[in-house]
Amino acid sequence: MTGAEWSQWTRDQAARIRRTPETVTPVIEPPEVDPASDVHVWDTWLLRDRHGQVATVDGWRVLFSLTAPADLLPGKRHDVAEIRYFYSRDGREWHNGGVVFEEGALGQRQWAGSAVYLDGDLYLYYTAAGDGDAEELTYSQRIAVAHGGTVETSTEGVHIAGPFRHEVLLEPDGEFYEREDQSRGMIYTFRDPWFFIDPATGETTLLFEANVPVPEGSDACGGDPHQQEFNGCVGHAVSPEGDPLAWDLRPPILDSVCVNQELERPHVVVAGGRYYLFVSSHMHTFAPGLEGYDALYGFVADSLRGAYRPLNGSGLVVTNPANAPFQAYSWMAFPHRDEVLVQSFFNYYDFAGQSLDEIADLPVFEQRRRFGGTLGPTVRLGVAGEETRIRGTLAHWHIPTAEETLPAPEHSGVTPAMLAAADGPDVDVRTRWSRTY
Ligand code: FRU
Repeated sequence: MTGAEWSQWTRDQAARIRRTPETVTPVIEPPEVDPASDVHVWDTWLLRDRHGQVATVDGWRVLFSLTAPADLLPGKRHDVAEIRYFYSRDGREWHNGGVVFEEGALGQRQWAGSAVYLDGDLYLYYTAAGDGDAEELTYSQRIAVAHGGTVETSTEGVHIAGPFRHEVLLEPDGEFYEREDQSRGMIYTFRDPWFFIDPATGETTLLFEANVPVPEGSDACGGDPHQQEFNGCVGHAVSPEGDPLAWDLRPPILDSVCVNQELERPHVVVAGGRYYLFVSSHMHTFAPGLEGYDALYGFVADSLRGAYRPLNGSGLVVTNPANAPFQAYSWMAFPHRDEVLVQSFFNYYDFAGQSLDEIADLPVFEQRRRFGGTLGPTVRLGVAGEETRIRGTLAHWHIPTAEETLPAPEHSGVTPAMLAAADGPDVDVRTRWSRTY
């Protein structure tokens, strides 16, 4: 591929999405202990080091979550999201460190991001959502960073202290990445920055969720104007000098035009020398004529820019059971020894409606009762070549330490069929020039 091409999740591939024993998690029960019952907790990311491993600072590990007061109606939480942090020594018992940006941050509210600890310096990438000076709620999104704060540790815990310096790093260019005024879809996206240093090239990278501009009248999706509204992509920026504060936009690395409108929280795990690209997406963001689930979807390539092939033929990697289709969301995979683990948040359980939108039709009491608002069980994933398989689950909030040996999994990670497929022929990958639309 040349620099101006990227991979595509095609309708043919997505049409193969089916729940299978390898991709469906067990039903989730509420956790026995909730380390932050006074707040809703949803999108979560771990403090990582430059190698992409979970960072340990003086024996502590730290995670960051979007949060909102627990007395708020869960559906309203996105409008007031604030980032809090949690810390743990053993990866099981987590303590609430409180709000990270006590002095405020960019945007009306802060959405998902990533966090990296580089030679003792903390960089918190986040989405500045909404215009900070607007009276009413707005949906603009910019990719921002906070830096200059400190991570203080003691035998008692971790204290993240400001003041932070906040900077907008990236805004959509309108060419590779849709601006809000170009958007024709159900929701506009330019968010969820995820920091990554490519181990093969040493290049410093941000991935993010965005949409590709598809002008009215273009011939994308056979000219079908409704399908064209489904134009998600995984965005890409690089820092040529490796400076965590200076970024140049690059073309996307994958798009889902005619397939899906939101490829949320993109991130990569390198395993066996391959690049596993993961995104979360919703049942209701698939284009007409396609049926998908609230799920973690994934793709594999031999280098960061691709070409990417969908995992398991369709892209489906982890989903909820059919009788609890919205019980978890916003999955994030990370390496643990020779396994891949996946954390997510416990979303609406005890609910098997046709769409998440139906939640709003329930009485307020029921909307609250059915919302988990905390982390879900950690999923163990076997990964080989282009195949994955759920091997079992760990407890809610369990992020094992590097030294921790996990029990024998319920399912072996790699089946002979998966290994055979690992070296098998590539499935059809379409790439195309950036300005086709
Ligand atoms: C996924 C998500 C993210 C966004 C956040 C806002 O759960 O949609 O893309 O940053 O939720 O609450």
